[in-house]
Amino acid sequence: MNVMRTKSVERSIADTEEPEFRLKKSLSALDLTVFGVGVVIGAGIFTLTGRAAHEVAGPAIVISFIVAAIACALAAMCYAEFASTVPVSGSAYTFSYASLGELFAWIIGWDLILEMFLGASVVAQGWSAYLGVFLGQLGVELPPEISYGGIVDLPAVVLVLLLGGLMTFGIRESMRVNLVLVAVKLFIVLFVIVAGIQFINPANYVPFVPDVAPRETATGLTQPLLQFLSGAEPMAFGFGGIFAGAALVFFAYIGFDVVATIAEETKNPQRDLPIGIIASLVICTILYCAVALVVTGMVSYADLDPAAALANAFAYHGQTWMATVIAAGAVAGLTTVVLTLLIGATRIIFAMSRDGLLPQRLAKVHPTWRTPWVISIIVTLIVAVVAGFTPIGVLEEMVNIGTLSAFVLVSVGVIVLRRTRPDLPRGFRVPLNPWLPGISAIICTYLMLNLTVETWLRFLIWLAIGFAIYFAYSHRNSRLGKDAGLYLNPAEPRVVGRED
Ligand code: ALA
Repeated sequence: MNVMRTKSVERSIADTEEPEFRLKKSLSALDLTVFGVGVVIGAGIFTLTGRAAHEVAGPAIVISFIVAAIACALAAMCYAEFASTVPVSGSAYTFSYASLGELFAWIIGWDLILEMFLGASVVAQGWSAYLGVFLGQLGVELPPEISYGGIVDLPAVVLVLLLGGLMTFGIRESMRVNLVLVAVKLFIVLFVIVAGIQFINPANYVPFVPDVAPRETATGLTQPLLQFLSGAEPMAFGFGGIFAGAALVFFAYIGFDVVATIAEETKNPQRDLPIGIIASLVICTILYCAVALVVTGMVSYADLDPAAALANAFAYHGQTWMATVIAAGAVAGLTTVVLTLLIGATRIIFAMSRDGLLPQRLAKVHPTWRTPWVISIIVTLIVAVVAGFTPIGVLEEMVNIGTLSAFVLVSVGVIVLRRTRPDLPRGFRVPLNPWLPGISAIICTYLMLNLTVETWLRFLIWLAIGFAIYFAYSHRNSRLGKDAGLYLNPAEPRVVGRED
């Protein structure tokens, strides 16, 4: 059984030219940057900043943001190199198919599905929570049974259905809506920074790295794997708290990799993808560090609200109208994150179905909309149900572990592809190969070890299901496997007629 077979880069690119699977190429570097910022700035900065500062890092959460940004920057360079070499839908999945082999590619695709499905669901619920805060400030109360935390989270379901409809209808239209909402979100984040500066009290920065303290809430399955393995007592703050904080706020950066999933819809992928990926990461890092500095300066970390720190830091200073504006901005901001994650999820499944690892019929592109409409509808319905009926809450970490594992394999993939295919034209090259990709893999693995034992257990179960599907279905139906031997030369995939 050949589970390590690789799909040549030439063939991946050739597959995108088939009329029935061809997507519309309409996006520019600016579109990609807006798309990137749209998906990156979301629930992470609006909610996790407060929680991480309050529970594990204190004002040093700014350093956690920098640590997470370094991990992301290294991974982003690896993504940029791959995306400029293999400009095909499917992101890390497609890259690992070209470098590490089919089984790895499948597992990566499976991890990315986890990242985006759960990410979209978690953020849709977060959106619903902020909508509740916003409406509450306007004096409107939704019935608790059908709002955030109720029997069914109706606002989250409606949001997912609306955005899913938009994405099925057309990528260009989705981008336009995205542009407006991203502008609103950037305005709000800048508003927090500029309006918040006047309320900073330097005394709140002391101590900048609070002394290590026992962490009662983290025991047994809820402690980081690293602590569990070392047998150390669960601790918060101090030097270790900075890394625990980084593993948590990593969520805030998730999404720049989603830019790579729309590679195939980009006009000039070799040039525009590296710009889009790296520019969105740089913009977000600067904004995050500024927000973290302002918010921990406004309110002592011990008093920060772990749920809605940004809005409540202003309420703390008696600025209720500012808190309302920020809640409204969060509602707009989280919308784009859900939209982008939905688009990312469909593009990953699209790439996997086109390769036959999932049923190929799913990948049909609509004749007029030119979007993978069957997958779009299925993804929308599943995310709507998960967001509406599942008490997710703790599943953010699942999103982190899915993404970090993809980053590790992409980093290793860069090293492998440089060796196996040094000849390929690369629009962008990671400097200091193999050192930087190697360090990227190590840092991401370290952050994974800082996630909780229960997250690891859930992740292993998800992987086991993935392996079962691969061996029961995908391996046999893989187009690469079926066509094996039909090609005379992998660099010319079309030399022999194909039936499918
Ligand atoms: N980075 C995205 C967020 O913070 C997932 O919501």
